[in-house]
Amino acid sequence: MWLSIATALIAFIVVAVLLGSRNAPQINGPRGLPILGHLRELLRPDFHRVLSDWADVYGGIYRISILGLPGVVVSDPQAIAQVLGRDTGTAVPKHLASYQQLNLLWGSLGQHSIFTGSNTDLWRAVRKAVSPCFSSANVSKACPHALEHASFARDCLARNPWIIILCDQQPICFHNYMVIQHCKRETEGMPLLHQESREAMECAKQFKAECRTILQFMRARGPPDQTDMSVGAQLLRVLNPGTGGLKAPCTKMQALNDLLIFCAGMPLSNAQLVAEIGTFLMGGFETTAHTLSFTLFCIANSPEIQDRITAELISAGLLGGNASQPEARKLQYEDLQGLTYLDSVLKESMRMFPVVAGFPSAACRMCEKPTQIGEFLVPKGTFVYVLFHALHNSARYWKDPGQFRPDRWMEKTAASSSEQPGNHSNSAKRFLPFSDGPRSCVAQAMAMMELRTALVVLCMRFHFRAASQMGGMEGLKASEQMALTLHVHGGVHIHCTSRV
Ligand code: HEM
Repeated sequence: MWLSIATALIAFIVVAVLLGSRNAPQINGPRGLPILGHLRELLRPDFHRVLSDWADVYGGIYRISILGLPGVVVSDPQAIAQVLGRDTGTAVPKHLASYQQLNLLWGSLGQHSIFTGSNTDLWRAVRKAVSPCFSSANVSKACPHALEHASFARDCLARNPWIIILCDQQPICFHNYMVIQHCKRETEGMPLLHQESREAMECAKQFKAECRTILQFMRARGPPDQTDMSVGAQLLRVLNPGTGGLKAPCTKMQALNDLLIFCAGMPLSNAQLVAEIGTFLMGGFETTAHTLSFTLFCIANSPEIQDRITAELISAGLLGGNASQPEARKLQYEDLQGLTYLDSVLKESMRMFPVVAGFPSAACRMCEKPTQIGEFLVPKGTFVYVLFHALHNSARYWKDPGQFRPDRWMEKTAASSSEQPGNHSNSAKRFLPFSDGPRSCVAQAMAMMELRTALVVLCMRFHFRAASQMGGMEGLKASEQMALTLHVHGGVHIHCTSRV
């Protein structure tokens, strides 16, 4: 009898273990050291590549740990859609502490902005207010402004032919706050995030001062008139919902009460406005400048790609200097949509070098409850790192991901906008330089317009050649480093010669 009880018990345990492991599969991942976890492997400037290499080995969802803090690295397209809440509306929340270091740049640790805060009513109010600033109608209105700044950068380069552009140190970028004059100092200010040198602290102070100057400028203009749809005007219009906004009312009295509380919201405080201004300044140069430098390098590194861009500009009437067309036309916003090859080059560069590569200060989420990600039930308290770099550079989702091949964007045959080129058969998005879901980049249309404008203006005027010390594409990859965003250590060195 004992034998049959023991056999039944063992059978029960085996079945329970099997069923249990089927219900809650273990997440695989690299072996780490006790306590340190994977810190040692990740303490290097190109740690994003280490994480992407692990994704190749362990798959689109794998676990890591850093100083005992458990994390899951996600690069599987469907799991990313789940985490970012694209379709479900149940995004995994941002991990606020990971974004804290940015708050220091414009205020104090507690001063969150649209980028660094959680999904509060205040975030919703700010996001709702600024979103229309980046509608296609407003982006097209901002195009002449971008054109003006791109022409300024072009003329600076033209006065110094045969110079080397250090894109990271003289970022050519611009947006509706006329950032160009701030860029250099702000870029130098970035070491604050890594080393608290006196110089870096000084630069951070200057950055805060610039944000306050912009605030004074916004206030000095007075209440914005109705037609003003700039970010500054919209921020002045935001009322802080404070109490949580309107809820579904139970009684008439409660409805009135809620409405009064909601409407009694005060305009954003100066400290909050400075945080928002700082976010838009930072978001508006760090990302676009580095994307532009990667893209210019990719163009400068390939005479064939450059010839095809030239041919496209000629057929669009944007290059003069030849018998049939001595004078170039002035670039218009509408031209940008028609330059499909140039656009493919830009997209390919954003695929290979997504400046918001993921971890640590962006796309960092935290499971506040047990959360289903792919086939795994991820425990509460686990960090979730969305790794766009791996999503964009994995052979699981792309054919020949290591090759810079703009043509892959021209080969698109599928009508569905959710289908992207590559070799993945399902419809989950595999190209997400601007993230996805409710916390995706609010200014992506503006960013694309600025980048296209800058590229066209520069390519209309110059031939580019990558400096030999860059070591070609492989050299570029070897010099990548991740700080706040992905960039090239020491800048991108390019020779430019005037076409005329
Ligand atoms: C190539 C250029 C750009 C790239 C690749 C980019 C990428 C991103 C990404 C991936 C996020 C989500 C980050 C996260 O979840 O942690 C984001 C958010 C954001 N970006 Fe951009 N961005 C670019 C340009 C800009 C520009 C020009 C601005 C402003 C003028 C801007 C303003 C913002 C803001 C305010 C958010 C926070 C949105 C929210 O949480 O509701 N970005 N961006």
